[in-house]
Amino acid sequence: MFLFKTELALRQHLDKISSKPIGFVPTMGALHRGHESLIEASKDRGCYTVASIFVNPTQFNDKSDLEKYPRTVDADLELLYHIGCDAVFCPAVSEVYKEGKAPVPNVDLGHLGNTLEAAFRKGHFEGVMQVVARLLDMVRPQMLFMGQKDLQQLTIIQHMIQQLGIEVDLIPCPIVRQSSGLAISSRNSRLDEEVLPHVHLLHDTLMYCRQQFSETPISALKEEACKKLDLPFFKLEYLEFLNAQDLTILSSHGDADNVVAVLAVWANDVRLIDNMLVHGKF
Ligand code: PAF
Repeated sequence: MFLFKTELALRQHLDKISSKPIGFVPTMGALHRGHESLIEASKDRGCYTVASIFVNPTQFNDKSDLEKYPRTVDADLELLYHIGCDAVFCPAVSEVYKEGKAPVPNVDLGHLGNTLEAAFRKGHFEGVMQVVARLLDMVRPQMLFMGQKDLQQLTIIQHMIQQLGIEVDLIPCPIVRQSSGLAISSRNSRLDEEVLPHVHLLHDTLMYCRQQFSETPISALKEEACKKLDLPFFKLEYLEFLNAQDLTILSSHGDADNVVAVLAVWANDVRLIDNMLVHGKF
């Protein structure tokens, strides 16, 4: 496995790879089974697989969240080596944000730019688009692998790729869950003892939404689902039913063929998001 810290060294290496398509998995480190599944998806498609580890400061709207973000580079490199990642890019902030080199892409996000995650995390997606555009420019992959857990991020990056005409195939990869159903996330390591026995309720609630979807009007289902998360250490930010294609919020069943339920919950001081297809297909 090769490790690169500069754009120049990375490019010199990748310019010599011509036998396989390049598959890229951007990460902020603190790697877990979810990331492993993205690397595996890239390898399964026969790609020369490049992962990046870069905690992107511009996507944190809350400074303390950036400071608290787990940094586990040695363990991350070991994991990547063991699952057969071909190359890792670990740039410094100054390498990514060289003067004038990383403008926020001018992308029309429509409603995606101000609902759900965008409403609660101001400036977050601008930072994500900025870094992903810059990383794509450095890595120049044929395929980009991202997880469906961050569904709005995935949809926004798809918009960005289309609007900027970036030549890369975005491959969405399914959510990986613990046996309790909790979606795997780097933030899970910060869950405290009070909330840990109860965080499976996020998945249980989404399952309930899926089971009841065809029989219950959306407003009533939303009310019932919210009750399931009504515990003193949970603070629900949103629970919505969306059109799975464009992520518009639905108020009734007839409005979309494919429906995904999404939620965001503070479990004490850790913010968790999750989603599940409750009707149709992605
Ligand atoms: O999903 C993430 O880990 C980050 O938002 C990403 C895509 C690596 C950009 O920093």
